[in-house]
Amino acid sequence: MTLPEKKILLSGSRPTGTQHLGNYVGALSQWLELQDECRCFFMIADWHALTNNYNDTSGLPENIRNQALDWLAIGLDPEKATIFVQSAIKEHAELALLLGMLTPLGMAERCTSWKELVVEQGLEEMRTYGFLGYPVLQAADILMYQAHLVPVGKDQVEHIEKAQDLAQKVNVRYGDVFRVPEWRLSKSPVLLGTDGRKMSKSWGNCIYISESKEQVWDKVRGMVTDPARVRKTDPGDPAKCPTFDYHKVFTPAEKHAAIIDNCTGAKWGCIQCKKVLNDSMVEKFEPARERRAALEAKPDAWREVLSAGNARARITAKATMEVVREKLHLYSQP
Ligand code: TRP
Repeated sequence: MTLPEKKILLSGSRPTGTQHLGNYVGALSQWLELQDECRCFFMIADWHALTNNYNDTSGLPENIRNQALDWLAIGLDPEKATIFVQSAIKEHAELALLLGMLTPLGMAERCTSWKELVVEQGLEEMRTYGFLGYPVLQAADILMYQAHLVPVGKDQVEHIEKAQDLAQKVNVRYGDVFRVPEWRLSKSPVLLGTDGRKMSKSWGNCIYISESKEQVWDKVRGMVTDPARVRKTDPGDPAKCPTFDYHKVFTPAEKHAAIIDNCTGAKWGCIQCKKVLNDSMVEKFEPARERRAALEAKPDAWREVLSAGNARARITAKATMEVVREKLHLYSQP
């Protein structure tokens, strides 16, 4: 009996730099689970980062470095997965250009971030060809590797649907070229920032994977809890507590009942609850911190990982584009 072929998985994110727990639960934790099961491609989408930030690109190199270091630190394994940089594979630009030919303007404009920033807020500096083409470039990223599966956050689903549409259009017109990909959502709850708002770098409410125990405790201690629980003697409601969402992600399930009991019965104060959470988080992220320190001690290690990943990705990308050019009757140099 032959083993079933592994499914191909592609996912990526723009290089935002040091990764926070939102990145962990929204993407990385799921990637870690799937990297054994699937043939994975994990991409740093640096061209996508330019779509909404083309004026000042000076932070890109540092952001790519920090993202790569955190990905490796948390356990993405270059022996199992191909970890690469979008802009190193020029074929993505070629495929995006070709898919653009089949993209009606209405389809491109049917995009939440375009509608919000350009149509509703009227931000002229976002009214660019590049930003409008965001989903087209993303479709190219996915179709290039014949991905079965694209794990993403909810906000990205509409982009994957466009990739599906474009794959079908190409297949219908030119014969089977692309696999139609499927999206998969992360099972983890969304983690709010320490202040109870959406976790976002620009709001300074993030906890980072690479932070020291002391820094993490400082933030956990100050985290928002059930706002109705003012005194220790007030019973709390875990369902209304952003801190409890962290327990759901980081504290082993068998401890949850006791946490709920201590909270709803006003048996302990929020600080005691946070100490338990802190211990769970330290246990989870201490190995990543150590791995990151070891990687940083070898200054070129992360670069070498990316170079090897780029070389591997390029093989697939070149093969795909050969087929695409042939099916589209495009010029191909003998
Ligand atoms: N748009 C994604 C984000 O902002 C990044 C991305 C680019 C991506 N290309 C992709 C994600 C392909 C999944 C598949 O996070």
